[in-house]
Amino acid sequence: MARLAVNVDHVATVREARGINEPDPVLAAGIAELAGADGIICHLREDRRHIKDRDLALLRQTVKTKLNMEMAAVSEMLNIAASTKPDLVTLVPERREELTTEGGLDVRANPEHYKKAVDQLKQEGIQVSFFVDPDPTQIEAAHEAGADIVEIHTGHYSEAHSESEARELFERIGVAVNKASALRLGISAGHGLNYVNIKRFKSLPLIEEYSIGHSIVARAVIVGFEKAVREMLELVRDF
Ligand code: PXP
Repeated sequence: MARLAVNVDHVATVREARGINEPDPVLAAGIAELAGADGIICHLREDRRHIKDRDLALLRQTVKTKLNMEMAAVSEMLNIAASTKPDLVTLVPERREELTTEGGLDVRANPEHYKKAVDQLKQEGIQVSFFVDPDPTQIEAAHEAGADIVEIHTGHYSEAHSESEARELFERIGVAVNKASALRLGISAGHGLNYVNIKRFKSLPLIEEYSIGHSIVARAVIVGFEKAVREMLELVRDF
């Protein structure tokens, strides 16, 4: 049975489209937890385009399951994480011009930088996850840098243009999962997963947790947040 962590960034994106105070990602997080979500995720970006410092602070006060803060490994965010103390930090690459996180961390390009970030976070008692492409060499580098968990980037799989491409990209995810398992890393997966393309993951029971945002928020507009979370939970709990 896999766990579901709900990313509430896109609730904040709708709020920011109007620049007012609703819908509130903090309220959405509470509803997600009442529906049974195992964790709440938010990404505090350098440009604060959706989640604000206020959201992170209130989520820290109100989340009762597990708060996962996605962030870039930069000193501003490391300081905010040290004072906020989320249960888990997921390090992600961040580029201002991207619409959403577009790829995994290139840990191999700068292992010392990431190791330093891990050391700082662990000193504060925060668990650390690395968002990486399904590339065994990056998973190995994440392990060497001290990551507790790797979150495998499923974005390319979810954007496959054909069944054969989806199958090939899914196989790569399978190889990455086996590598992470051999290294005894915690294993999560996320990005671009929805109520249809997640079904294939039933064949990868080593994945312990899924990080899902956009598809849940999109469904919530039609059926309500609680129902949207429950429907996704029903799928991942069957894995
Ligand atoms: N995992 C990471 C590291 C992400 O950056 C995101 C997007 O914020 C997600 C998971 C969730 O992706 P989606 O919104 O496509 O479900």
